[in-house]
Amino acid sequence: MDERHIQILRDLGFTDISPKTMTNDYWKKRAAEALAITTQDRDVYGCLDHTRGDGVRIYDVEGTEYLDVTGGVAVRAFGLRYKPFLAFEASIADVVTELPGQDFDAIPQTLLAERVARLTPGTHRKRVVFTTSGARAVEGCMKSAMDVSGKRRFVAFRPAFHGRTGYALALTASNSRHKSGFPQGVDVTRVPYPYCYRCPYGQQVESCNIQCVEALRYALQVEGDDIAATVMEPICGEGGLIVPPAKAVKGMYEVTKEFGAYFMSDEVQAGMGRTGKWCAVENHGVIPDFVSIAKALGGGYPMGASIGPVPMFTSASRHSETFSAEPKLSLLALWLIKHMEDGGFLKKNAENGAYLMKRLGELEDKHEVVGDVRGIGLMVGVEFVKNKTSKEKARELRERVVENAVQKQKLWILSAGQNCIRFTPSYVITKADIDDAVDRFDRAIAGALSA
Ligand SMILES: Cc1ncc(COP(=O)(O)O)c(C=O)c1O
Repeated sequence: MDERHIQILRDLGFTDISPKTMTNDYWKKRAAEALAITTQDRDVYGCLDHTRGDGVRIYDVEGTEYLDVTGGVAVRAFGLRYKPFLAFEASIADVVTELPGQDFDAIPQTLLAERVARLTPGTHRKRVVFTTSGARAVEGCMKSAMDVSGKRRFVAFRPAFHGRTGYALALTASNSRHKSGFPQGVDVTRVPYPYCYRCPYGQQVESCNIQCVEALRYALQVEGDDIAATVMEPICGEGGLIVPPAKAVKGMYEVTKEFGAYFMSDEVQAGMGRTGKWCAVENHGVIPDFVSIAKALGGGYPMGASIGPVPMFTSASRHSETFSAEPKLSLLALWLIKHMEDGGFLKKNAENGAYLMKRLGELEDKHEVVGDVRGIGLMVGVEFVKNKTSKEKARELRERVVENAVQKQKLWILSAGQNCIRFTPSYVITKADIDDAVDRFDRAIAGALSA
């Protein structure tokens, strides 16, 4: 961090800050005292420098450069400090930011609503509620489904991640730490996510008769069929980067429809072009009733949207939050969408994603502990096992790989589920970056195995 930025902090009243305090240990200790929460292990990651970054290069306060394959958990569509984005942001610096979205109308919000409605599958008439987070995007859809259907029960999967607040948490099932001790906000009938690598019915994907879909039908027959909606991640992200087969997603959709309920695709992580389609559920040939998006929609700013069929809510003011889709954020989101279109990023993401899969697939051949590599587009997961025959989950090894990747190989990477690592890089990643990332990852695995 340069002197100017240190001076800014000092001018804000923190006169104890100086170049000498720019160490990871100093700031991790101070953060641990002040912040109630971190979702990742402070022993593994450095403290990030908020003043530096370039595309897929991220820096800690000591100046160490990392190759980032997380995209900020699928948030930074165009990476860090993307010049065209910064230029557009500068061009709208005089726009009034402080016009909270849902109380009064402003043009950018309306245009963004029209735009995101067109991006989501289906030609049915849709309406949009903007939010400031993914969980709230999910909850907006849930509340709409309940409001319109008069039903209160949802179908969700195991594993699944839909956020950590109220109703969204009720759907989540990816780590007991998120849920234990908190009451269930809404009734959920839970069925296994279509997880072919560990099919609970012992079937092979090519020949299977999708018993996971039959399990949903059976659950509804015996547990109650008064469901408002089935909520599904088109690719299970946080729960282990699991790609369901299209026939299973279609089957879940069809059973949901048999019971007269809505089908909702939670696109918070997988959506916004990451998989080569605007919505990842399009890869499965399903047109959902509801879609939740967030993360990449704001390109780094807090922005989410619940999109559902008209009328969405039975009357005005049935749902709202003060902040969301302020004019500046809406214009930025509109720019991001247009830039993705103009720059052919959907195609690029599909191509670069296929290349990433191919390169990571080489590690599956090379290492006995790499049990499975799966993904669509720039959303790829690697599952670690003790060996390919037993498929026993290699949880500690996964931790060592993450630690090695970050600390030794300077590859900024994130885990998913109990024994997986996920790659959700920004859309500006190049094939050369992918080669570099996979080589670093390979060395991190080798290092973890020899430890
Ligand atoms: C599929 C999915 N839904 C919802 C959420 C919650 O988003 P947020 O953390 O913005 O509330 C996430 C976050 O990772 C997610 O991956």
